[in-house]
Amino acid sequence: MGPGRHCAGRAGAGAAGQVNELPCSAAAERNKHAIFEVLRQMLPAQGRALEIASGPGQHVACFAAGLPQWTWQPTDYQASVLPTITTRVTQQGLANVQTPLQLDVTATQWFATEEPVPCFNLIFCANMLHVSPWPTCAGLMQGSARHLALGAMLITYGPYLEDTVATASSNLEFDLSLRALNPTWGIRRRAEVEMEATKAGLCLSARHAMPANNLLLVWRLASDLD
Ligand SMILES: C[S@@+](CC[C@H](N)C(=O)[O-])C[C@H]1O[C@@H](n2cnc3c(N)ncnc32)[C@H](O)[C@@H]1O
Repeated sequence: MGPGRHCAGRAGAGAAGQVNELPCSAAAERNKHAIFEVLRQMLPAQGRALEIASGPGQHVACFAAGLPQWTWQPTDYQASVLPTITTRVTQQGLANVQTPLQLDVTATQWFATEEPVPCFNLIFCANMLHVSPWPTCAGLMQGSARHLALGAMLITYGPYLEDTVATASSNLEFDLSLRALNPTWGIRRRAEVEMEATKAGLCLSARHAMPANNLLLVWRLASDLD
């Protein structure tokens, strides 16, 4: 991934100061269509999706527009980003996106009401593991194992270090810059992510190489694959 990956650009065509200008990630603008193409080919016609770490909501808005038979639940740890998601979804007239919720993946309970346990056909999480402390990985895997419906999948997207694939120099630089910003951040080793998945009862079922040295990883309940 090159420089500008986390550029906090401004979306919207209006002049400065107009209300349709929303915080946005330049990286998400660049990668959302490539991710959507993979989703479109993998997902059934309808279902219920949970997005973890939605940030400004560009992914959920793109996917909800392209897969209108799915309902989408955006979430993020930071309550302050939730109004941006609501505004983006409202501006785009998306009726299949639910009110964004505050959700910390490291919490032992993800939802205020878990009786019955909310289940999803897809849990999607982009660009969180390297921009949060390592325990978010265990939290994501354990929470996903609790909330995936039978036959469902968790998809994680972002950069990873792989033992058998040379790391792009841009990703090495990106990793150093993340660790300099926050010592608890950094690009994660895929093998270590897999270990957390295994502990939670998930296993890696597909790996898609994506533009800009990112990976899209598909995780399923190990019990589904028995
Ligand atoms: C780099 S942004 C990615 C946003 C968006 N998914 C994207 O790809 O553009 C990382 C996001 O992870 C969220 N995050 C960090 N720690 C988290 C946690 N413990 N639980 C849920 N989200 C978290 C942050 O609030 C932030 O919105």
